[in-house]
Amino acid sequence: VPVQPFDIVIFGATGDLAQGKLLPALFHRWCDGQIPAESRIVAAARDAMSAEEFRALTAARVAPDGTVAERREAFAKFARLIDYVAVDVSDGGSGWGELEAALAGGESKIRLFYLALPPSLYGPVCGAIAKHGLRTASSRIVLEKPIGHDFHSAREINRRVGEVFPEDSIFRIDHYLGKETVQNLLILRFANFLFEPLWNANGIDHVQITVAETVGAGRRASYYDTAGALRDMVQNHLLQLMCLVAMEPPSSLDADPVRTEKLKVLRALKPVTQESVARSVVRGQYRGGVIEGEPVPGYSEELGAKSRTETFVALRAEIGNWRWAGVPFYLRTGKRMAERRSEIIVQFKQVPHDVVAADHGRPHPNRLVIRLQPDEGVKLMLMTKDPGPGGVRLRYVPLNLSFAETFTKDYPDAYERLLMAVVRGNLALFMRGDEVEAAWRWTDRVIAAWQDGQSELYPYAAGTDGPTQAALLLERDGREWFDGFDT
Ligand code: BG6
Repeated sequence: VPVQPFDIVIFGATGDLAQGKLLPALFHRWCDGQIPAESRIVAAARDAMSAEEFRALTAARVAPDGTVAERREAFAKFARLIDYVAVDVSDGGSGWGELEAALAGGESKIRLFYLALPPSLYGPVCGAIAKHGLRTASSRIVLEKPIGHDFHSAREINRRVGEVFPEDSIFRIDHYLGKETVQNLLILRFANFLFEPLWNANGIDHVQITVAETVGAGRRASYYDTAGALRDMVQNHLLQLMCLVAMEPPSSLDADPVRTEKLKVLRALKPVTQESVARSVVRGQYRGGVIEGEPVPGYSEELGAKSRTETFVALRAEIGNWRWAGVPFYLRTGKRMAERRSEIIVQFKQVPHDVVAADHGRPHPNRLVIRLQPDEGVKLMLMTKDPGPGGVRLRYVPLNLSFAETFTKDYPDAYERLLMAVVRGNLALFMRGDEVEAAWRWTDRVIAAWQDGQSELYPYAAGTDGPTQAALLLERDGREWFDGFDT
C-alpha cells in the first residue's frame, strides 16, 4: 500500500528514544523509498539550536564518521527532510508559534505528533497542541509506553489525551507488537488448523514467557529506578505477549477485534492477593558480575544509591476463564541476565499412555518454542524414533523454522514497522486505552502487595538466570524453566 505524504513532529527529539530508535527508523524507511518526498520531519526539543545543528547531532548518532560513505551520504540527503524547532512544552512555554509556522502549508497531509517524552507531559502537550490549533482533521498522536505509572495516572492520561484526539487517532506504542515474530504469533495460531484444537487447558500444560536482557539500567537508571521491571516490562510487553498467546480467535486481524480479545484476557487475569503475590511473584536485583567475559557493576553502583527497585521479576499468572482454567502462565524478565533471549514456550500435555517400555525412553511433552529475539524462529519439539537397527529408542527432536534461513529477505525493525503503521492508520499494532488500564489494574495489585508486605528482593549476580527463587517458583509446581532453543 503506498504511503501518503505526512509531517511528523517529534517531541523530545534530542532524547534517547528519538535519537536511538525513531530517527534511525525513519531514515531506514526513507532508504527503502517508503517516505514520500513531500514529507517533513519536524524535530522539537527544549534546547536552542539550529536545524543544521540538530541534523549534525543526529548524523553523529545515526550515520557517524566511520560508517560507510554511502550511509553518510544517504543520511545527508534524508536530513533535508528534517527541520528543528525549540519548544518548551511546559505550561505556557515558548516555541509553539514557531512550531505552527514550521507546519504551515501541511494541513492537507497526514500529521503525526510523536511524544517521545515522559508520560506526565502527555496531557499538557496535547492541551497545547489543541490550544495552538495544530491538530488537523487527519492528525494522529503517538504515545510511548509507559502510559502512566499506575491505573489512575494512565486513566488520567487517557482522559486528557482523549479530550484532544479521538481514540482512533491515538497510537499507544508497545514496540513488542511491532516485532516480526510477535506479529507472526497470530498467524501461527489462526492461519494453521493444527494448534487451535489443542490450545486450551486440555492440551496445554503451561506457558512460559521469558524476556531476558544483558543490558543493565545504564544511563536510564534514574527513570528505571522509579519504575522497576514490573512496570517497565511486565505491565506492557510481557502481558501483551501473554494476551496474544491466550486470546480467543478474533473475527479478523483488524484493530478492534484483536484489541477486544486481548482486553478480555487482561480482564480475566486472576486478581492477586498479598498472600498469592508472596507465593507466586519473585523480585530480584542484580549485583556485580560478569557478562560475556566483561565485569559489570551491580544495580546500586550504577544508580549511585541503594535501592529496592527490582531489575528482575518472575511470576505465575492465571487466566480465569474456560479455556485456560488451571494453566499457569510463567512470566520472567530481567536485566543483566546471562544472555539476551526472548521467547514464548508452550508446553503441551504429556501423552496419556506410554506405548514403549520405560527403558526405551520416556516421551517428553511436545513443546512449541517461539523465539522473538535474537535469531527469530519457531521450533516444535517432537518425539521420534532414534534411527538405527537396535530397536525402538525415543528421541526428542526439533522441527525447526529459522527465519534467517527460510526468509532470506530482511525485514524492518519494530519501530520502522510501527511508524509506518501509524502513517497508514493501522491501529491493530497499538494498545487501546482500555487495554492499558486493564493491565495497570492487575500490576497495581502486585505492587500494592509488595508495598504492604515486607516483599523480599533477592540478589542475583549479573550474568546469571536471576535469583534461585525464580527456579523454585516452578520447581514447586513440578516444572522448570526451559531454554527453548537449546533443548
Ligand atoms: C523497553 C524498556 O520498553 O524495552 C527497556 O523500557 C528494555 O528497559 C526494552 O530494555 C527492551 O526492548 P528490546 O526490543 O531490546 O527487547
